[in-house]
Amino acid sequence: MSEFTGFRDFREFLTAAEQRGLLRRIRRTVDRSWEPACLAKLMFHGLPMEQRFGFHFDKVDGSEFPLVTAAIGASISNYALALGVEPERINDRWNDALNRLVPPTIVATAPCQEVVRLGRDARLGALPIPVWTPRKDAGPYITTVTVNRSAETGIQNMGVYRTQVRDDHSVIVNLSPGRQGHEFAQTYLKQGEPAPIAWVVAADPAVYLAAVANLPIGFDEIMVAGGLRHDPVELVRAQTSNLFVPANAEIVIEGEVLPGRMATEGPFGESAGYMSGTARRPVARITAITHRRNALYYGLSSQMPPSESTVMQSLSNAGLYLHMLRKDYGETSVRDAYIDLMFGGGASHITISMTPEDPEHAKRVGRIVADNTLIKRITIVDADIDIRDRIDMDWVMSAHFDPARDTEIVGGFPMPADHAVSPDEQGRKMGGKIIIDATRSVDTGANSLPPRELMLKAREIWRDEGLPEIEIAGRLRKRLDRG
Ligand SMILES: Cc1cc2nc3c(=O)[nH]c(=O)nc-3n(C[C@H](O)[C@H](O)[C@H](O)COP(=O)(O)O)c2cc1C
Repeated sequence: MSEFTGFRDFREFLTAAEQRGLLRRIRRTVDRSWEPACLAKLMFHGLPMEQRFGFHFDKVDGSEFPLVTAAIGASISNYALALGVEPERINDRWNDALNRLVPPTIVATAPCQEVVRLGRDARLGALPIPVWTPRKDAGPYITTVTVNRSAETGIQNMGVYRTQVRDDHSVIVNLSPGRQGHEFAQTYLKQGEPAPIAWVVAADPAVYLAAVANLPIGFDEIMVAGGLRHDPVELVRAQTSNLFVPANAEIVIEGEVLPGRMATEGPFGESAGYMSGTARRPVARITAITHRRNALYYGLSSQMPPSESTVMQSLSNAGLYLHMLRKDYGETSVRDAYIDLMFGGGASHITISMTPEDPEHAKRVGRIVADNTLIKRITIVDADIDIRDRIDMDWVMSAHFDPARDTEIVGGFPMPADHAVSPDEQGRKMGGKIIIDATRSVDTGANSLPPRELMLKAREIWRDEGLPEIEIAGRLRKRLDRG
């Protein structure tokens, strides 16, 4: 797939996913108040990674639109397909994209505006927006790419901010302070002006993968999406604002965040695995809903991890942080990075492999990650360790790591996503981080495996004897090569 230049649209991605068994159709009519959420939870918690799939709910009670969820983030294979690469090339594709940003192009007419509903005709109730934690959530909410812009610079931002449906024509947006979406909205609101906002539903998947990455402020995610596609994203001007939205999206909900209007948001089931409290958040008025003919609705699923949200955020941020270390900090001896698929964005665990150049090098790299991301646990291992292999990682932690010598614990970080810490008097969550240097600190000598040539001969015997097919794990291959 090296010549990949992105899916034409979300539909094309869904077809490719269905052909590979990465998307399944549910033909019965589902009740959006509980069935899609519960089926998605069964899938994430009942199937191993390699058997997971996204859902296409053909018929949703009370809506003309089908509902899709987990198509991008059911598994590493779904995510890799969305990027058009094999799973082991995800970080490489991110590296390419960040080295070669591709600006969008503007088009005059767009599929996402084939049907335009304005004002009172733009009804959120017409969309199959699910309840994600049935019987516990305050109501349905939208989980998709949110676009807004800075009044000061004109730069747009994309992120996913859950958006509670209040009634047919208004929503409450979880724009939390500190997030770029919040800062950009403030550039209008502080002048007493409404802040334009749009929810882009089922744009081509690269747009989602870029939107969930924790990119530095002022970095327009649409250029990263273009880089991930190796092709520009086409944008069209929204019908009721000066925002530009992906032209091939299935549905675009347009609105404006109203100055001085706040409402109580939540409680909702969150990606950390617990119910949120409630908070005062900005209210937005819906000004238009535009869509393709025969459009479908896509809702990212989150809540108790692992989930689509954690899979996507982990894989996007691992690519981003690896690039940051190698390019921005010149740490070219860093080889690979992997973020656990349970926590995704903040408060998660990153494992980094590298070839340290001096005894303190691994800890220095760990400190860069601690200082520049919301990651809570940072483990550094040697470059010959397979950081995605639990067996290899357990071996390393016992064989190479001395807790007294190799651990650094640092406190005083803002940790908004960490449920293990309570807010201080100013309402800030300040927490700690742990850096574990599990690179070899002593001369370990030769490993306790038979030599390579004997193992290869043993493999021949294995085949001759008709023993079950085996694939030699990467960790064994590496160890045999190393001797
Ligand atoms: C399904 C899903 C829901 C999310 N909900 C929120 C949310 O409500 N508030 C928030 O601040 N981040 C949320 N996130 C994480 C942000 O989208 C992500 O961190 C993004 O990078 C933020 O963009 P920004 O850094 O441009 O603000 C969510 C992510 C996903 C995948």
